[in-house]
Amino acid sequence: MHIGFLNPQGNFDSGNSHITKHPDFGGQLIYVKQLAIAIAQMGHKVDILTRQIIDPEWSEFAETFETYPGVDNVRIIRLPAGPKKFLPKELLWHYLVTDWVPNILKFYQQHGGLPDAMTAHYGDGGICGVLIGEKTGIPFTFTAHSLGAQKMDKLEVTPENLPEIDEQFHFKYRILAERLSMNRSAVNITSTRQERFEQYSHQVYRDAVDVDKDDRFAVIPPGADFSIFGAKAHSENEEATYLHIQERLARDIAEPRRDLPVIIASSRLEPKKNILGLVQAFAMSPTLQERANLVLLTGGFDDPLREETSDDTTEEVLTPIREVIKENDLWDKVSAFGLLDQSQESLAAAYRFMVKRRSVFALTALYEPFGLAPLEAAVAGLPVVATKNGGPSESLQQGNKEYGVLVDPEDPADIVRGLERLLCDADEWEYFAQAGQQRVLKNYTWESTAENYLTLLEQILSSSATRSRAKLLPIHPYFGNPESQTDVFLEELGKLYFGSNQKLLSTSSF
Ligand code: F6P
Repeated sequence: MHIGFLNPQGNFDSGNSHITKHPDFGGQLIYVKQLAIAIAQMGHKVDILTRQIIDPEWSEFAETFETYPGVDNVRIIRLPAGPKKFLPKELLWHYLVTDWVPNILKFYQQHGGLPDAMTAHYGDGGICGVLIGEKTGIPFTFTAHSLGAQKMDKLEVTPENLPEIDEQFHFKYRILAERLSMNRSAVNITSTRQERFEQYSHQVYRDAVDVDKDDRFAVIPPGADFSIFGAKAHSENEEATYLHIQERLARDIAEPRRDLPVIIASSRLEPKKNILGLVQAFAMSPTLQERANLVLLTGGFDDPLREETSDDTTEEVLTPIREVIKENDLWDKVSAFGLLDQSQESLAAAYRFMVKRRSVFALTALYEPFGLAPLEAAVAGLPVVATKNGGPSESLQQGNKEYGVLVDPEDPADIVRGLERLLCDADEWEYFAQAGQQRVLKNYTWESTAENYLTLLEQILSSSATRSRAKLLPIHPYFGNPESQTDVFLEELGKLYFGSNQKLLSTSSF
């Protein structure tokens, strides 16, 4: 099979440059890359289609073609969309329609024909799948990764603040693109059942998809990369990472405490990751403080608890954390630093270092759509405390069987309970380290994700004539020809999100 992956946002390169350095360079790119490689290793031809960026600050993304070293059958293909410079995903919509999709079609006309099927990622990849499907008949699967409806909920959008919020996030395009993607895809792929039944059933997607129709959905969880995160794996800078961590602990932690277990958190410094809740939990438990240090891995920031950063969102996260640390005099018990580089290999080495001192991984995000990070930590051998909101409730628990300790992220006392359970009882630590690791090894491999995608794509291709289709939504004129006359009005978004009776205070601002 020849499969195209539509992923306009972020970018890909053989060195995984910029992974986690920007909100558009995170879990989704890792998912697409790992899945593409796993499918290619099963003998299929895969193209990762992304945007060409010609920008000195992002010099890795300028060439049209690139491959991953040692991997056959995967091409990264970068095609222009709008200006040459890097653009965040919120600003791509217009150029996807005017440039990127036509460039993809032209590319395949000139280079040996279209793929058999596409997998489309996020609402931006999805709308491209819709438009390419319209022109060519090629079917696509839609993997949302993150849906705009839940982000709007989290931002507490009201009729009053919608114009201002939309100015930044462009939900008016995203929601319409998502509705079309989930409506016109061959199948929607979710990572969990909860994503299918709870997220897709948001009222903003009504009439676009029926979550009760089994043939519109496939639940395919992603995998962890054992060759990187496995307990026996060894990264090129394994020893250098160990040394680096020891140096940072020596910098930040009081001497007699330096060999204690660690509560380790590793996520982007964003409010939704709720690192503050974890720090508050640590602050309120003398038992936790007696038994462990708290380590925050902070990406590109080497000493962000003491040095202010120049990034507003990062400061929004760090300022209250610094206050809790100061008020509770936690300076010698908390360490925050970045690893030698932002590679997954260094992170995996850090996890293995922490396992040796019987540490615990913590992810206390307010909501986590899937939560690959705790599974990566688990396969390295760390027992996990994770948010009960979202994917971890399925990956780390099945019936009464627990594979990680789930906690309420909005209740620091519950976070304390979860952490103490692992740090105060050696048997519990051992049980969860084993159970979590086995759970991931058995259920979350990229090979099984790839097999599930392939089975689905084969079914889609062999049943294209007979497959039942949803009632098709019309394609909004903006996605035919984006200009001021065809623009999406905020009232259209407001009607979908608030229902028809809500009036927006101000009309559209464009
Ligand atoms: O990990 C980064 C990322 O996966 C994006 O690429 C993804 O689409 C996003 O997280 C979440 O998007 P949003 O905040 O726009 O819902």
